[in-house]
Order: sequence, then structure tokens, then C-alpha cells
Amino acid sequence: MQSERHDRHDTHARHDSRTPGSPSSPALIELDDFCFAWDEVPTLRHVNLRICAGDAVVLMGDNGSGKSTLLRALCGLVFAQRGSYRFDGQEVSERTMRNQAFSKQLHQRVGFVFQDSDAQLFCARVADEIAFGPRQMGLSETEVARRVDDTLALLDITALRDRAPYALSGGEKKRVALACVLSMNPDVLCLDEPLAGLDRRTRTWLLGFLHQLKAVGKTLVIATHDQSLADEVADYFVYVGDAQGYPDRPHVRINA
Ligand SMILES: Nc1ncnc2c1ncn2[C@@H]1O[C@H](COP(=O)(O)OP(=O)(O)OP(=O)(O)O)[C@@H](O)[C@H]1O
Ligand SMILES: [Mg+2]
Repeated sequence: MQSERHDRHDTHARHDSRTPGSPSSPALIELDDFCFAWDEVPTLRHVNLRICAGDAVVLMGDNGSGKSTLLRALCGLVFAQRGSYRFDGQEVSERTMRNQAFSKQLHQRVGFVFQDSDAQLFCARVADEIAFGPRQMGLSETEVARRVDDTLALLDITALRDRAPYALSGGEKKRVALACVLSMNPDVLCLDEPLAGLDRRTRTWLLGFLHQLKAVGKTLVIATHDQSLADEVADYFVYVGDAQGYPDRPHVRINA
């Protein structure tokens, strides 16, 4: 991740000491002066942020500071009202996302696991839920079936294949939501409070799983209030608003 150095008092992201893996590598995600307001209430204010492929970035900030909104922006669910967002060099905007091929590709490459699994799951069967994304990508039914089987096995939820998502426990829903995203083999995973509501065993499993994703080069952007997750996974922090962070760990500050 790279970010321009700005004066301490401005509202832009401030990049401190960390040496990115390759300072010269092009940013996969690039927000420039990105502004977004919900109902005219400014929520993302002049955000400058660069995230390189393979980075694991943790967003930390108070309730209502804008973490989920930022993840939505990265996934192309809300758009810059001023400034810009480029993914892999291509502008992501209301206009470009009207192009179906482009929006499909963005949704395939940037997966989003919602804070609330119920907002993500809508099919009658877990297997259909996981198949939904690959089908949207236009894959053959043979390939869709293979991805469903592989993802069920990867997340150790094969036994849930024919269950109704709405009737699962919170932790089971979280695994299914993760499976839905992974079945599309995205480059970037945006995870919103992934550990919330999970028991100790499932937390341990998910932390290990995030390390595996990191090891295979996935880009992770995670919003969390969980200090241990942040400590374990983050290459960089994005402190949103006046979040207290580690002054000595690599970070940028947005919405300050
Ligand atoms: N769909 C929406 N419509 C209107 N306002 C919204 C919407 N979603 C979020 N907001 C507002 O935008 C602000 C930022 O919300 P957001 O969900 O991004 O915060 P957050 O940092 O993720 O908080 P939390 O830690 O509680 O999850 C809040 O004031 C919230 O009320
Ligand atoms: Mg949130």
C-alpha cells in the first residue's frame, strides 16, 4: 500500500514509515480525493488510499466512522461523488459500472463478506448460494459444480450443502458467506467484521484461514474492532477518523 505524505492537519490519508513490498509497484486499489455522503451527510471525506496486490490491510475506527462504507466503495456498491476510484488502473464509477461486463468483472475480482451475513444470503440452499456467483460469471454447470464442491470442502461445510442458509447458526452463516465469495476466486477479499459473533474455535480457524489466503497472495482488506485479528494479519492499518492506533506501526489515516 502506498499513500502520499500529507500534512498532519489535512483530511487526507497520512502514510507513515512502512516500506511497501515494492514501493514502485502499481497500486491495485487507488482512491484519490474520494468523497461520499449518505443522504448528504459526508461519510468518506477526501480519502487518498493506495493498496497493492498482496497487501493485508486492516481498517480500524469507531462505530459509524465509515469502515463499512469504504469497503462498499471498494466493491463498487457506492461511488465517488467527488474524486475517483481506480481498480487495476480502471475507473470504477456509476458510469463504468453500468457496463455489465465491467461490473461483473469487478464483482468477481473484489469479493465482499458483509458484516451481517443475513444481508448476503438469499438462496434456499447453501449449494445454490455458493453456485450463484460462479453462475453469474457464466461458467459451465460442470465448472460451477466443481467450485461448489471445492469451496464446501475448503471451508469444511460439506455437511451444510442442502441446508437453508437462513436456518444456520451465525458462525455457519459466516462460513457460507465466505464460501460464496471464495467460489469466485477473487483477487481481493473485503471482510467486514469477520470474527464478530464467532466462538473461540471458529475464530482460531478463521485466523488460520486468513493467513492461508495471505500466503497465496490474496489482497485482504478487513474492517475489525478485534485487536488480535488486526495484530496478527495487518501489513498496514488504515485508521478511520480519530481511531487510536499504534503510532509506530505502518498506517495511513483517513477521515481525520
Ligand atoms: N445505507 C445507509 N444509509 C444512510 N446512512 C448510512 C448507511 N450506511 C451507513 N450510513 C451511515 O454512514 C456512517 C458510517 O457508517 P458505516 O457503516 O460505514 O460505519 P462503520 O465504521 O462500519 O461502523 P461500525 O463499526 O458500527 O460497523 C454512519 O453514520 C451510518 O449511520
Ligand atoms: Mg461497519
